[in-house]
Amino acid sequence: MRVADPIEDPSAPEVRRLALDMIDTMRDAPGIGLAAPQVHIPLRMVIYYVPEGRDEEGEGHPLTILINPEITVLDPALETGAEGCLSLPGMVGSVPRPQHIAVKAFDLDGQVQEYEAMGYHARVIQHECDHLDGIIYPMRMTDLSSLGYVEEMTGHDE
Ligand code: NI
Repeated sequence: MRVADPIEDPSAPEVRRLALDMIDTMRDAPGIGLAAPQVHIPLRMVIYYVPEGRDEEGEGHPLTILINPEITVLDPALETGAEGCLSLPGMVGSVPRPQHIAVKAFDLDGQVQEYEAMGYHARVIQHECDHLDGIIYPMRMTDLSSLGYVEEMTGHDE
């Protein structure tokens, strides 16, 4: 997969349409994040949210659209956590990632948004932005023995 191209005009109507299409696709999946290359659009846009109770603080994070996102690692200490991906259905793996990042991106109004994220929130952002560079989470794993199907990892008693 190639590296996705920057979006020249974040406020363009077709960019908003793409974002709305991606939100539909993410909700149908269902998933908590999606990058444009996953719907075969090689542009630098991701969408995500963090469900309440999923992150350390439990507050979640509202649906967010990041256009041309840039990540700065604020604390390089790695923490390992489980990840799945709509591009690898039914699979899950343990992925080490920095736990404190800053994000800078454009929104659909063409305004620059900057904020910090930690823990699970930081993990989701890094996972989605990796898609823009053709990176899927197994490429970040240091222990591939933890990569498997959800059923195998949780047992068959559901
Ligand atoms: Ni993914």
